[in-house]
Amino acid sequence: QAIRLSDYRPPAFLIDEVALTFDLHPTATRVTARLQVRRNREHSEPLRFNGERLKPISVAIDGRVLSDGERTIDDEGLTIPSAPDAFVLETEVEIDPENNKALEGLYMSGGRFCTQCEAEGFRKITFWPDRPDVLSRFTVRVEADRSFRHLLSNGNLIEQGELEGGRHYAVWNDPFLKPSYLFALVAGELDVLEDSLVTMTGRTVELKIFVDPGMAPRAAYAMDALKRSMRWDEEAFGREYDLDLFMIVAVRDFNFGAMENKGLNIFNSSLLLADPATATDADFERIESVVAHEYFHNWTGDRITCRDWFQLCLKEGLTVFRDQSFSADMRGHAVQRIKDVKALRARQFAEDQGPLAHPVRPSSYLKIDNFYTATIYEKGAEIIRMLKILLGAEAFRAGMDLYFERWDGHATTVEAFIKCFEEASGSDLSHFFAWYEQAGTPRVSLESQYDEAAKTLTLNFAQETPPTPGQPVKQALPIPIAFGLLDGEGRPLRFEHDGEPQDETVIVLDQPQASITLTGVDRFPVISALRGFSAPVVLTTDLEPKDKYVLLAADPDLFNRWEAGQELARDLILRRAAGSPDEVNEERYADALGRALSDQSADPAFKALMLALPSEPDLALVMSPADPQAIHEARDALRTRLSVHLESQLRELHNGLQDLGEFSPDAEGAGRRALRNAALDLLLANPRSDNAAYAHGHFEAAGNMTDAMAGLSALMQVGGEAFGQALADFYERWTSEPLVIDKWFAVQARDPSETAIGRVMGLTAHPAFDTKNPNRLRALVSTFANFNPARFHDPSGAGYRFLADQILAVDRFNPMIAARLVDPLGGWRRYKPELGALMRAELERIAATAGLSKNVYELATRALAQD
Ligand code: ARG
Ligand code: ZN
Repeated sequence: QAIRLSDYRPPAFLIDEVALTFDLHPTATRVTARLQVRRNREHSEPLRFNGERLKPISVAIDGRVLSDGERTIDDEGLTIPSAPDAFVLETEVEIDPENNKALEGLYMSGGRFCTQCEAEGFRKITFWPDRPDVLSRFTVRVEADRSFRHLLSNGNLIEQGELEGGRHYAVWNDPFLKPSYLFALVAGELDVLEDSLVTMTGRTVELKIFVDPGMAPRAAYAMDALKRSMRWDEEAFGREYDLDLFMIVAVRDFNFGAMENKGLNIFNSSLLLADPATATDADFERIESVVAHEYFHNWTGDRITCRDWFQLCLKEGLTVFRDQSFSADMRGHAVQRIKDVKALRARQFAEDQGPLAHPVRPSSYLKIDNFYTATIYEKGAEIIRMLKILLGAEAFRAGMDLYFERWDGHATTVEAFIKCFEEASGSDLSHFFAWYEQAGTPRVSLESQYDEAAKTLTLNFAQETPPTPGQPVKQALPIPIAFGLLDGEGRPLRFEHDGEPQDETVIVLDQPQASITLTGVDRFPVISALRGFSAPVVLTTDLEPKDKYVLLAADPDLFNRWEAGQELARDLILRRAAGSPDEVNEERYADALGRALSDQSADPAFKALMLALPSEPDLALVMSPADPQAIHEARDALRTRLSVHLESQLRELHNGLQDLGEFSPDAEGAGRRALRNAALDLLLANPRSDNAAYAHGHFEAAGNMTDAMAGLSALMQVGGEAFGQALADFYERWTSEPLVIDKWFAVQARDPSETAIGRVMGLTAHPAFDTKNPNRLRALVSTFANFNPARFHDPSGAGYRFLADQILAVDRFNPMIAARLVDPLGGWRRYKPELGALMRAELERIAATAGLSKNVYELATRALAQD
């Protein structure tokens, strides 16, 4: 049943043109399709088009309706045993958007029609060869009752008018070839925020963001982010927008973040709507990055798309790389890099250590929806980043230019992409290609020897990638390692490499082992390696804590400055978790942190990151077997110590950084709030009797949602009545704001206190809880399972049971969302045996359930597989 890359064959039939007509009714929509079909392979194969959950009305070829014997329709599609070489296929089907709770294909959200077709949703709209290498020109006619005021689809509006019986219509034409997964349709009563932008060649593009009535002011930030993205893509990649109109629609019920449909992006409203009162800085930041991401897809995804779904990283990894580069330019390179690496480690490194580890370009799958993973997105982006480091910025850009020129208007492959860089740079990238095909996180070790008399430093590198399911033997990869040296006082130390004097250099480790010798090293060196996290690997060095303190205080590479602090903290927490706290070094760490916080030249956003200890899930990845309770307690104990030690400094930060002027969501304002709120968070770890009042004061004084949520989290640490009352007030104040109520659910899901699990389960019976709305479900269930390890891994097993129950309930109507919830159980082998056994039992219960979707089945059985 698995689909394999090696089985790829070009499509048997192509469709050059299509005219679709939608006669929209909530429970019975008629879809008429008129396709210009042409045979694409020599031999006379039967025609086989996808189609699911379609009620067929008629099928005709060149105007003649086919009899039952001339065509068959089953659960998966339409077959016509003998079709001509070129013909017009007309089909008419009926679908039921109102009762489509899988939110795939055409469905209704908040009383409006909308679509989601990637990856395989178009087959739930009409009969079609639903694969990304069939590129067609679409004309779409939408008819609906006039109460559905806006009728939208891809491309340009070419006609609209009134119809009888209170209905109206609009006709859209998209001049660009596109695969079916980029099709979109929206119909409903919406408010619109309008703007425009003059492109690099002087064309005016109209920009429209459609939102729920009354919400237009909350789209202003997204509009601003869109204009900055459009400008940035012109400047950084020479890419101009192509249509005269660019539209975004926000919808409330959406399975993931957003979708890059040609000229008509559709967004989860949580990633579009924001104002200071209802959205946090983190929301603003994500909106900026997702608006950019979807916009950048216009070139890396839409104009050039994927030949098949194995090539998903061709558009996703590349587009994530582009949005990360944009965010770095908007918000600061070091801070952005630290955040991106945190996310990579938390999600992708975890994936690589579990049963679902897979290459950035996988070679087989059951359900492609299960492969929209951190590996394909985030590790895919890291590969592009390494490519740029290896080739240099100029050759990288030349390769991108060649790719855009050569493949515009086509569906292509990762090989074809890499070939552009080989040709543009003259380098051989065949070895580099292994990054796409080999799963797992390479472990790199570095040992050094300094020869004081000869003033040489020898660096011995080794790499090894642990086996992953289905890939027991690994090869060495080309790993770019950027490094520099400091002396014991933290001053930059120059050195010579291959006779060239350097401050910093990049070597490529492409063998299992390599040794290099630096000369002219005048003083005893401290090595700062893998600067800027130049490759997605786990690095271990022979650095001692005293060396890490040097880096923490002075490394000019801010990523490594942060990293040194994280490693020191990690080791202290793990020692505590193992029952042997190192109190001397804990004081030393607190002092070093105090000095970092008082560095006036450092960016507050950076200091906020320095102040945050490694997260519990990250710590669980480096403890074997993982004991989430022990980690939670050890981390808390270190927090308390730091809090007591740094108390006056934290209070100063908290009092001194208050927002005085008007709220600005930009990096600077957000950085100040982040530092202030990180200080508050740590202050609360000090068990002082006046904590509750302090946290309450912050909560009450909050003039924006960022501060209000920080106050609520602080009160969560206090617990008891103080937290209960704040939650009640918060709920009452924001009842009519779904996106804020999601936050209310999420904060309770994160509560690590022992009684919290009962409350989380109880919340599923709250009138505002709604499993059919993915945002609400994620706010409670996914937050609990992913961000509350102490309670999810409750020794009673109640956390696991709760998650499994939710998965099974949701799978009945929304398999994609149910499947996304399986992941927290997947790592069961990494946990201590008592917990692992309970997790496995829940996976077994899931896998044994009759009527399971393919999505959940694939993930549950892979998680259980012996390998
Ligand atoms: N292409 C979208 C994006 O990353 C995501 C689509 C997710 N689809 C899915 N079936 N998981 O921008
Ligand atoms: Zn994407």
